[in-house]
Amino acid sequence: MLKTIKVKLNTPADRSYSIVIGRGIMKDAGKTLKKLGAGRDLFLITDSNVNRLYGKTALKSFRSGGFENTGKFVINAGEAGKSLDSFLKIQGALYDFDRSGDRQVVVVTLGGGVPGDLGGFIAGTYKRGISFIQIPTTLLGFVDCGLGGKTAVNFREAKNSIGIFWQPKLVYMDLDTLKTLPPREIKSGLAETLKYGVICAPTLFDYLEFNSDRLLALDMASYEKIIPVCVKIKADITSADERDEKDIRIMLNFGHTAGHAIEAATGYRKYTHGEAISLGMLIAGGISKELGLFRDADLFRLENLIDNLGLPVKLTGCKVSSVLEAMKHDKKFKSGVNRFILPVKIGACKVADNIPEKVIAKAIKSRMV
Ligand SMILES: NC(=O)c1ccc[n+]([C@@H]2O[C@H](COP(=O)([O-])OP(=O)(O)OC[C@H]3O[C@@H](n4cnc5c(N)ncnc54)[C@H](O)[C@@H]3O)[C@@H](O)[C@H]2O)c1
Repeated sequence: MLKTIKVKLNTPADRSYSIVIGRGIMKDAGKTLKKLGAGRDLFLITDSNVNRLYGKTALKSFRSGGFENTGKFVINAGEAGKSLDSFLKIQGALYDFDRSGDRQVVVVTLGGGVPGDLGGFIAGTYKRGISFIQIPTTLLGFVDCGLGGKTAVNFREAKNSIGIFWQPKLVYMDLDTLKTLPPREIKSGLAETLKYGVICAPTLFDYLEFNSDRLLALDMASYEKIIPVCVKIKADITSADERDEKDIRIMLNFGHTAGHAIEAATGYRKYTHGEAISLGMLIAGGISKELGLFRDADLFRLENLIDNLGLPVKLTGCKVSSVLEAMKHDKKFKSGVNRFILPVKIGACKVADNIPEKVIAKAIKSRMV
């Protein structure tokens, strides 16, 4: 299996790029990257877990592909690594790597959303922007954060609050890296997969319903089916609305308004991103049902699938008021007016503004044990 999907970005200049999806292709990464001609010297950014598992194979492949000069920075695994502190340390290491000789550096990120978001931000800001390539290794990385060009670090209690749009030159996915991913991270990625089903892909939703056992058992054939479908959706949405300005890319935020608030209200410790988004999708579904936009039967299907994928359907560890309070910091809210992505059926969502707080509170409360 080897597939290529394109993100088409033609304005202001052609910044289109390919997403290569395959299995067992990590060892060939160097050759493909070299052919791209994005840089002569390669600086790898990864985390401690991924470095232990894939660091050697990746570097060996880069060297055998023709990158004679390689540098590497390894951050501690986990969300805490996506900080300004890591940013400064890596900028320092990159500067030292760059100045020893006449370098043309390309940054390569290897890992999940943490090295990806951080490394993209570093590449986008170093010398006002140099090339970068993403090699995602988590399910969330494959279907969501590995492409699209949103890069950032967290600042104080706010996630992704300092960042820029900076598109990669290539995204290179070896699906076999899923085999070492902890089951909880797999489930977390499946939450984003099912999000695509609800916003625009009812047949993907059906597939997930019929194959949840296979997916939880890490049946690779099932992942070979669903990952390219999700990548194509995200690639098309990014091509149509790169900077989230046309009410197209915003659909990807389904479940994220309440989901982000739940992550904040529970101190970013209790739930993984995908778990919080699952609860957020159910809260958005509850609001939509209350407003008469979403059928009971569809909300039931959504809850069932989330449950069957081993994701939470009940919210614990915080109060309704703390979720409501955290929600007020949502980037989509303008001048105090709230904004949600609400499902209207399995396969379609709409943007809704100014929803009465009591409707939101009721939907949150209905998720509490
Ligand atoms: N840029 C975007 O569009 C976008 C979209 C969604 C989420 N995000 C960001 O992504 C981050 C979450 O991404 P994530 O879940 O990939 O986080 P992550 O990078 O922290 O990876 C999760 C864990 O899995 C480990 N890991 C990674 N690959 C592995 C593998 N193949 N085998 C074993 N362990 C492996 C990591 O070391 C880490 O412990 C958040 O910071 C979020 O804000 C960004």
